[in-house]
Amino acid sequence: MKGKHESYLDKSNLPDHIAIIMDGNGRWAKRKGIDRLSGHREGMKSVRTVVNAARELGIGFVTLFAFSEQNWHRPKSEVHALMELLKQFLIKENSRLLENGIKLNAIGRLRELPPDVNQVLNDTIELTKNCNMLTLTLALSYGGREEIIDAVKKIVSSGNLASHDVNELSFSQYLYTVDLKEPDLLIRTSGEFRISNFLLWQLAYTEIYVTKTLWPDFRRRHLIKAILNFQNRERRFGLTSDQTRKRKVR
Ligand code: FPP
Repeated sequence: MKGKHESYLDKSNLPDHIAIIMDGNGRWAKRKGIDRLSGHREGMKSVRTVVNAARELGIGFVTLFAFSEQNWHRPKSEVHALMELLKQFLIKENSRLLENGIKLNAIGRLRELPPDVNQVLNDTIELTKNCNMLTLTLALSYGGREEIIDAVKKIVSSGNLASHDVNELSFSQYLYTVDLKEPDLLIRTSGEFRISNFLLWQLAYTEIYVTKTLWPDFRRRHLIKAILNFQNRERRFGLTSDQTRKRKVR
């Protein structure tokens, strides 16, 4: 059912790519007096709901910060539980992803993932490779600085890019996100005003929306609210407001 906010959405001005820092699973569990894993499990339901809602709205790309390079330093038991949850998600959801036309993609130092997780991930990517309704990218074992360092290493070791040919366009071809457009909107849940090493290069001109809602509570109506907020912004890409208005008129 459509909520009251949804009717205010301008379907001609939807963000094409939404990136999300899904934060607050632990705090959600703590408030309820339950274990952290239950928070992550509930967070997985939010993933399912938000991805489906985005697809229904006609959003082309969703990128989720699912596991950071720094998350490896969490207690072993939590890392293990998160990897298991991810595996379960991929196994359980792969037919639904296919039915809904959702293409799975992954970015990060994927070789660091346990082999069984990497296997299911690759299988699901292969299974959904021809889907074209929405591209769901999971950032796994991901860090923005690490991504830039990996790009520099690739450039140096390939020997294919001379210094006079290094520019934003040529450099971006070496990032993990070579096949993605830059995010229009970044949503961060649980109230923290930080980027936390997520998509450092790609977020240069992205609109940022922070909500106090914890990720396990984040549902379709929260996504709609974030998009409505985005639609009230004036994106200037470094230009003056006058220049931006003239561009819109043209
Ligand atoms: C942040 O909450 C969340 C994570 C580190 C992991 C995100 C994982 C999920 C939402 C579940 C599975 C995801 C997929 C894609 C299947 P936190 O633990 O940092 O919360 P806190 O800051 O309140 O402790």
